[in-house]
Amino acid sequence: MKKKIYYVLGLLVIGFIAVKLYNYLSGPFQRYSDVKVIAYHYNGEGYVGSATCTECHKDIYESHLETAHFNTSTLTTIDNIHGSFNEGENTVSLMDADISILEKNGKPFQHAQIKYGDHKVLDWSMDITIGSGLKGQSYLTNQPDGLFQLQASYFVPTDSWINSPNYTNSLNPLRPVNDQCLKCHVTFAKSSNDNINSNKYDISKIALGVDCEKCHGPAERHVRLQRKSNGILKDTTLIGLKSLSRQQRLDVCASCHSGLRSNQIQNPFKFLPGDTLSKFSKNFNSLRPSTSLDVHGNQFGLLTSSKCFSKSEQMDCMTCHDPHRNQRSQNAYFNSKCITCHQQNKTTCSVSESKMAAMNNDCIQCHMPVIPSKSMQVQLTKLDKATPIGVRTHYITIYPEETTKD
Ligand code: HEC
Ligand code: HEC
Ligand code: HEC
Ligand code: HEC
Ligand code: HEC
Ligand code: HEC
Ligand code: HEC
Repeated sequence: MKKKIYYVLGLLVIGFIAVKLYNYLSGPFQRYSDVKVIAYHYNGEGYVGSATCTECHKDIYESHLETAHFNTSTLTTIDNIHGSFNEGENTVSLMDADISILEKNGKPFQHAQIKYGDHKVLDWSMDITIGSGLKGQSYLTNQPDGLFQLQASYFVPTDSWINSPNYTNSLNPLRPVNDQCLKCHVTFAKSSNDNINSNKYDISKIALGVDCEKCHGPAERHVRLQRKSNGILKDTTLIGLKSLSRQQRLDVCASCHSGLRSNQIQNPFKFLPGDTLSKFSKNFNSLRPSTSLDVHGNQFGLLTSSKCFSKSEQMDCMTCHDPHRNQRSQNAYFNSKCITCHQQNKTTCSVSESKMAAMNNDCIQCHMPVIPSKSMQVQLTKLDKATPIGVRTHYITIYPEETTKD
């Protein structure tokens, strides 16, 4: 009898140890869901998306969700369209057609009604939303002959549907969307025939948003390695941006913030952090005077023309921006960055104290004003002249006219 008890106890102990051992060995594999690769880079590395980073970089992940970068492109749903579906507010009226934004079975679409002749009707699905909705949103439709931009966009300042920027006031042919358009608004896309002018994509394989892996490179190997080693192994699968040169750090941001660069030498999606941007595309703004650079999307060109940049050794975009946070309108934060360099001993502001006080000591209001873009303009109604969109200039200098503004 006693022997039997020992026998059973022995078995229980062995069983217990076996279960513990199994859990220990398979732990790293069981604790996490499997890594799902969204797309493969041209170099064979996999993009896994930011949700995979939460388990180890929770704080960065959570603040990243609030950024314009993360939200700059998504699959379109009724909920993420900021414009109205209500009758009377859902139509863009052109000379020859009305475009309305409608929904059917929970799916949004744009509906064009030709006003003359055969009164033809055209419907296009709304599949991808471009724009976090700070200034506006544009919509892409995925058709059998490829991806196109739709003509009705949503504009935040007027909270209304508008004719997409730079479209004429009549029904235009849909604009094909290729790598040259997508490169700044998604993390990775590969057209089905690897041609930069092609507009054919499998949209389920587009890594949407300007996500972690746009700035850090595809992270599949990093995730697999870190999961297995629980952070013990040093890894070289990701490029630490802190160790890059100033130009390399600037190039990560300049790949999207240096305006429309001239014809690509290589596919823009082949560019990875650490690469030299000028080997991928030429910056045709480089020989122009800073006064003729447009404020839209060219923060690199403007900043590098400023004395703050050329007369200091270290300044880059991260001097003022934390790429993991939404810092919109945090003027006090930005001003503290100006003051870090412009303290007593170095050059300080020479404007009168009263003017300074009238502007709440807000450096950027006077030295980095919001300027209307020459290249990004929208037609608000049929009759209006095109209205420019204001963008904060990165040409940091003296703007005497700003000092007298209210
Ligand atoms: C060279 C990079 C670049 C390309 C190419 C580009 N954009 Fe943009 N886009 C930007 C940047 C940067 C902004 C942010 C505003 C700024 O800096 O002027 C922006 C802003 C926008 C906005 C407003 C977003 C918001 O939330 O306020 C929309 C909509 C937009 N772009 C649509 C498009 C579409 C559609 C295409 C392709 C036909 C395109 N863009 C091509 C860089 C680009
Ligand atoms: C717009 C580009 C950009 C995006 C998007 C981005 N990062 Fe970063 N990240 C950087 C830069 C630049 C640095 C280096 C910061 C510095 O030099 O001060 C950095 C640094 C880091 C570091 C090093 C530690 C630290 O805090 O400095 C980690 C970890 C990191 N990022 C993780 C992430 C994760 C996870 C995401 C997505 C949830 C993400 N990053 C999204 C640009 C980006
Ligand atoms: C299982 C945990 C884990 C996951 C998942 C993970 N990381 Fe990390 N990551 C780490 C650890 C640990 C380090 C520090 C490694 C080191 O010091 O070499 C790190 C470092 C980094 C760095 C800094 C690299 C450097 O050289 O400075 C970046 C950037 C980064 N991770 C991005 C990401 C991104 C993007 C994702 C999601 C796609 C991700 N990580 C997912 C654990 C993880
Ligand atoms: C893949 C292209 C891409 C890269 C790389 C990129 N950006 Fe952006 N950035 C954008 C686009 C597009 C927007 C506009 C997003 C929107 O509103 O829809 C934007 C917006 C911003 C904004 C305005 C955010 C706001 O809330 O007002 C800042 C600041 C910014 N980027 C800084 C950076 C910095 C710094 C880097 C480099 C570390 C960088 N970006 C890299 C495409 C990019
Ligand atoms: C990395 C350090 C640094 C930062 C940060 C910085 N500056 Fe400067 N800035 C400089 C230097 C260096 C000069 C050149 C001074 C000289 O010529 O003696 C300069 C020059 C200027 C000038 C004169 C420009 C001209 O064309 O005459 C103004 C105005 C200015 N800065 C404003 C600002 C404002 C506003 C900020 C914050 C948004 C800022 N700076 C942030 C380093 C910096
Ligand atoms: C001297 C500080 C400073 C530096 C350096 C700097 N920025 Fe900015 N940036 C600002 C300020 C201030 C704003 C306005 C923020 C706001 O109004 O919310 C801004 C806004 C922006 C915006 C949004 C513009 C708009 O009107 O929508 C973008 C995009 C941007 N920065 C990109 C960059 C990039 C890319 C670099 C590097 C080439 C860079 N910035 C370097 C201070 C700086
Ligand atoms: C009310 C608008 C206004 C505000 C606010 C303002 N400035 Fe100025 N700043 C000016 C004007 C105008 C000048 C040129 C004055 C002159 O020389 O007549 C100037 C000149 C400068 C210069 C060049 C000085 C020189 O001698 O070359 C620097 C640097 C500067 N400002 C930095 C700053 C910083 C940093 C802040 C925030 C703490 C700031 N400014 C706030 C309007 C302003």
